[in-house]
Amino acid sequence: MPGRAEGKVVIVTGGARGIGAAICEVLAREGAKVAITDILDKEGKELEEKIRRQGGIAKYYHMDVTKESEVKDVFAQIAKDFGKINGLVNNAGILGVNKPTHEVTEEEWDKVMAVNVKGVFFCTKHVIPYMKEAGGGSIVNIASVYGLIGNADVPPYHASKGAVIAMTKNDATIYAKDNIRVNAVCPGATWTKMVEDIIIKSGMSIEEGKKAFASFHLLGRLIDPEDQAYAVLYLISDESKNVTGTTLLVDAGWTAK
Ligand SMILES: NC(=O)c1ccc[n+]([C@@H]2O[C@H](COP(=O)([O-])OP(=O)(O)OC[C@H]3O[C@@H](n4cnc5c(N)ncnc54)[C@H](O)[C@@H]3O)[C@@H](O)[C@H]2O)c1
Repeated sequence: MPGRAEGKVVIVTGGARGIGAAICEVLAREGAKVAITDILDKEGKELEEKIRRQGGIAKYYHMDVTKESEVKDVFAQIAKDFGKINGLVNNAGILGVNKPTHEVTEEEWDKVMAVNVKGVFFCTKHVIPYMKEAGGGSIVNIASVYGLIGNADVPPYHASKGAVIAMTKNDATIYAKDNIRVNAVCPGATWTKMVEDIIIKSGMSIEEGKKAFASFHLLGRLIDPEDQAYAVLYLISDESKNVTGTTLLVDAGWTAK
């Protein structure tokens, strides 16, 4: 039986670890050819080898999403290597500082915006010509529940994810005529290094921290990176061919309260 993403060529940013790595593995398992991009070269190459050992098709590329010329050149190389580009997962993201708004510096604000917002802009901008050439495509932006609700922390991060949700809806309206769909996935607390680092910085033990994050969720448990990856798989695959401009919450019920 063909995989759910059979034959599609998909670029994943920040694909070397965490949610991005789970997305790469799930897409490859479902028949996609995956371009893993990141700035963590060791982890990225190891993931490429792991996917290949499992019989999937993947290649790692060093790409910093904040550098437009690098994005442009790497996308050209991916199109050359794989022949086309059907999908883009804008997953690379950083949390940034956790201070109240009146203490955040301009530099701290700009750092988060550069990766989480400008990075999504650069990657979307440079993938569009390839998707037009392919007769359509699917872009999935990894936003966050933090783009929808406040939680008295990380102000630049909240702003950046709100921007990503707005960009998703607007780009969906711009590119529908080209058969290019643009959707967002909004994760709740998902067990990755990002969340582990927050717990360590807070001074809580890992177990206490995990419990605290799980308590945000109606379902009372943390989310696995693979749960986010299956939402992305749906949005990349043709199963969602009539879904665009949506914000798919994979938040264990956090925002239903
Ligand atoms: N973990 C969560 O609970 C959670 C919740 C909501 C949203 N998210 C979002 O999910 C996405 C993945 O986060 P994660 O939890 O896997 O975190 P992570 O820190 O484990 O992974 C982020 C990845 O992005 C890469 N990255 C960072 N800056 C980059 C840059 N300039 N260019 C290219 N790659 C870069 C990192 O190297 C890393 O591989 C992020 O956009 C994050 O905001 C995560």
